[in-house]
Amino acid sequence: MANVVVVGAQWGDEGKGKIVDWLSERADVIARFQGGHNAGHTLVIDGKVYKLSLLPSGILRKGKLSVIGNGVVLDPWALVSEIEKIEGQGVTINTDNLVIAENTPLILPVHQDLDKIREEAAGKAKIGTTGRGIGPAYEDKVGRRAIRLADLADAETLERRLDRLLAHHDPLRRGLGVATIDRDELRTRLLDIAPKVLPYAAPVWKLLSEKRKSGKRILFEGAQGALLDIDFGTYPYVTSSNTMAGMAATGTGMGPGSIDFVLGIVKAYTTRVGEGPFPTELDDEVGKHLAVVGREKGTVTGRDRRCGWFDAVLVRQTCTTSGVKGIALTKLDVLDGMKELKICTGYALDGKVLDYLPTAAEEQARVTPVYETMEGWEGSTAGARSWADLPGAAVKYVRRIEELIECPVALLSTSPEREDTILVTDPFSD
Ligand code: IMP
Repeated sequence: MANVVVVGAQWGDEGKGKIVDWLSERADVIARFQGGHNAGHTLVIDGKVYKLSLLPSGILRKGKLSVIGNGVVLDPWALVSEIEKIEGQGVTINTDNLVIAENTPLILPVHQDLDKIREEAAGKAKIGTTGRGIGPAYEDKVGRRAIRLADLADAETLERRLDRLLAHHDPLRRGLGVATIDRDELRTRLLDIAPKVLPYAAPVWKLLSEKRKSGKRILFEGAQGALLDIDFGTYPYVTSSNTMAGMAATGTGMGPGSIDFVLGIVKAYTTRVGEGPFPTELDDEVGKHLAVVGREKGTVTGRDRRCGWFDAVLVRQTCTTSGVKGIALTKLDVLDGMKELKICTGYALDGKVLDYLPTAAEEQARVTPVYETMEGWEGSTAGARSWADLPGAAVKYVRRIEELIECPVALLSTSPEREDTILVTDPFSD
């Protein structure tokens, strides 16, 4: 049985929601392995729109187990309100269909405070975070002062964890000129939320191993995108977790050999929210056209997304670092009717052409894209369900992308509707 990891191969917002939903029908277990409620997945099922941030997409399907792995940072209050919201839409959520790793670190109100204070203080140098406290929560995890889900079960342990947390945060807050942490209030809030989240706590590593042994299919659902990876993204304009496929193993407690297929989700052009380098960004009418037709607004923060041409250099790079076996190409229909299209095939820098994005920030800022121009198409690709339904120039565009990124298309998505998908390779049976 194949286990599949789905990762965004650009800066997030590639349309993972629909693909994950489509694959979750074929999976038994759906696991989140990094990020937190900074993610936003919109799913349309039977005409009903669901917006998920923290809950794995499998939660919307009967008979599937949804798992939140230890690689995630969990805001327990955000989780409870998301559960209530989704239950309000008629979905049942209980300990039979949701489990959370006991060793998952929590996002606390102090993390959100810090995220916002730092962003405001940074002015023009801000990262453009979602303000959810993701970075500060991961900092506390590696700083060995996080409060983890299991810690909520024992008042004495919680007290010791609070000691460590306050010893770090109070001096920091004093330095920033904000009030120190109200320990009693934080303790009370944590003890209040504990009975609502603890029932979901489980040794996820063990559970997943048992599922795997009994031949169940596991779908690992990545959030954000590979270019926001803390190590390989456009640092420091990144999120604070590893967003690439390798994280699926450590973020759930499975061995690296348990991953059989990595599916990279790739948008037919490029977008990003927040600050940071974006070599193919279009600050003109074409960029505006992509934003309007593609409805490029952030699901979580409502911010406008920056838009640009397809960057084959970056996608080839992320397909390599994530070991992508096949891609799901999304939003091709947004390009319908455009006269000509450009694809970035390299970067010019100091008289040379590079086939990768250099790491040095100064060089990232100076590279200029080398473009190849392709003919656009007149007809529509929207809703196509076979290659034969696509205009010739659209097929050429897709084939050229495959060539340049050195990775085949496994799925082609031609509208937000789940049926509007052309399947080339089934990731689960490859
Ligand atoms: P953070 O994850 O809130 O710390 O934000 C860090 C960077 O990641 C910012 O540029 C955000 O806009 C970006 N980011 C975080 N989550 C997402 C997402 O789900 N989609 C796209 N960008 C995201």
